[in-house]
Amino acid sequence: MQEQTFFMIKPDGVKRGLVGKVLGRLENRDFRIEDLQMRMITRELLEAHYADLVDKSFFEGIATFMMSGPVVTGIASGPDVIKSWRTMMGVTDPVLALPGTIRGDFARAQENGAIQNIVHGSDSPESARREIQIWFGK
Ligand code: TYD
Repeated sequence: MQEQTFFMIKPDGVKRGLVGKVLGRLENRDFRIEDLQMRMITRELLEAHYADLVDKSFFEGIATFMMSGPVVTGIASGPDVIKSWRTMMGVTDPVLALPGTIRGDFARAQENGAIQNIVHGSDSPESARREIQIWFGK
């Protein structure tokens, strides 16, 4: 099924110079990059994006990390891109993310604070629609 997903290269990925590698993985899989923007995240955008996490004890850690430097946000399209991108990212916890996935290849456990795991991707068609609206207004 042709669909679109929202993706992000988080501040750790940008700082470590992994933008090209991450975008390359999307292109290697023949997904199209439909839109792309580097920006700093505001508190408002972060709270809208992670609305379901705002009340969690670890949210302040996430906020500090996510606003620590620029991120690269984008829209990718292609058949089953939502699930495929989640598979390519690997699971949330870098300790458990399998080698071959972005998180499994580039992220490791942090000693304290938020999990820093290089990338984000929408987890369902509803999230993709919601996140594309939040970040790109379309
Ligand atoms: P979540 O949406 O559960 O994971 P994913 O990014 O794999 O969709 O959580 C969003 C981000 O919040 C996650 O990438 C890292 C951070 N996080 C923590 O720092 N600590 C936690 O215990 C959890 C669950 C998430």
